[in-house]
Amino acid sequence: MTAQAQPRTQAELLQRAREVIPGAAISTEALPDDTAFVIERAQGSRLYDVAGRSYIDYVMGSGPMVLGHGHPEVVAAVQEQAARGATYFAINRQAIELAELMVSAIPCAEQVRFTGSGGEATFGALRLARAYTGRQKILKFEGGYHGAHDYALMSSTPAVPPPFPQAIPDSAGIPDAIAETVLVAPFNDSETAAGIIGDHREHLAAVIVEPFQRSIPPVPGFLAALRDACRRNGVLLIFDEVVTGFRFAWGGAQERYGVTPDLATYGKIAFGGYAGGAIAGPKEMMRLLDPALRAAGVSLTGTLSGNPVSAAAGLATLRVLERERATIYPRLYDYGERLARGIADLLAARRIPVQTPGEGPIFQVYLQDRPIRDYRDTLGASGARWGAICRAMTRRGVFLNGGKLYCSAAHSDDDLRQTLSAATAALDETS
Ligand SMILES: Cc1ncc(COP(=O)(O)O)c(C=O)c1O
Repeated sequence: MTAQAQPRTQAELLQRAREVIPGAAISTEALPDDTAFVIERAQGSRLYDVAGRSYIDYVMGSGPMVLGHGHPEVVAAVQEQAARGATYFAINRQAIELAELMVSAIPCAEQVRFTGSGGEATFGALRLARAYTGRQKILKFEGGYHGAHDYALMSSTPAVPPPFPQAIPDSAGIPDAIAETVLVAPFNDSETAAGIIGDHREHLAAVIVEPFQRSIPPVPGFLAALRDACRRNGVLLIFDEVVTGFRFAWGGAQERYGVTPDLATYGKIAFGGYAGGAIAGPKEMMRLLDPALRAAGVSLTGTLSGNPVSAAAGLATLRVLERERATIYPRLYDYGERLARGIADLLAARRIPVQTPGEGPIFQVYLQDRPIRDYRDTLGASGARWGAICRAMTRRGVFLNGGKLYCSAAHSDDDLRQTLSAATAALDETS
């Protein structure tokens, strides 16, 4: 092995990363120098860096690792499949069995079509909705995230939001024409959303919504009102369940909130931490994805879509969740609620205003008094102060990135105690 391949220190490895990877980042987030670490491996609720330090992980791979890192049944399934071939670009047993299990769990699903990621699934679902309705526009909610494609990166994180229903791009490089096909509504405001849907019905193919937007739960009646408005106007309702699928309940947000959309999209948990995504829906709509239709249908393909390693990891993950649903879901909710309450109590005791919107397994911390119902309600929060607290916690072995906290079945009471003790010390340091 060359010296180049064996870094002496973590700092040296980070320096090498800066040379060959823009911003030394693999996503839109990079840790600042005083906190940055390089991950070597992960197990259960913990990450381990190349210097041998461990961190209680609340990023959890941005959500897929609901059973914790390296669950033995998932590892065994992946190892077995890897020896039988990494990918085939053709229908395979693992993909069929995963599709069957998803159809059995998801209320709106009679069929599923696999993609390479959650973002590819939302992109494909929007194309399918356009093809099915013969209309061009889509409506999304301000602050909602559906992946990194051009239609999704509209009004997800606007610093200065324009008036509704105007969309604004979140990234350089998105063609102006995209903004003309995307309408934006405020989350949790069914009256405004229904008004926009009605006004644009002739051109509107679909409404896409995270049923639980980032960390904001739907207010009672909001999703049902969207369902009604879409039905009345012949517009398809798409639930983006990339985050909520198999996490809020075995049947995801559709089961948890009791509203069934026309189409839904999946990623993360359904592929056990491996690359994958899926569109789910009724046969009457999904049939447009049948390649036999050729140019009359919807073209959607990807080298790794439905690959057997991802499908094996997803199957193993879902089988554990289905088998242990009576204990896993209550535990996820219990842990998340106790952690959110514990953090909120520590902040409140220091008279720091705090809101912790969320539902059991996912929540977020905003340092503000104002309750949060939609994206605009979050704009006044002191992100910088909470970010400093997160970094101080990370230096004490608890990894938070300032965004959503993802809890897993592998987090223990001991993790909870250590997390709150790190939060106490971080508050002492940053106050
Ligand atoms: C709600 C939601 N939809 C879609 C995506 C995109 O999924 P992927 O990152 O697999 O493309 C994400 C990713 O975080 C998400 O949170």
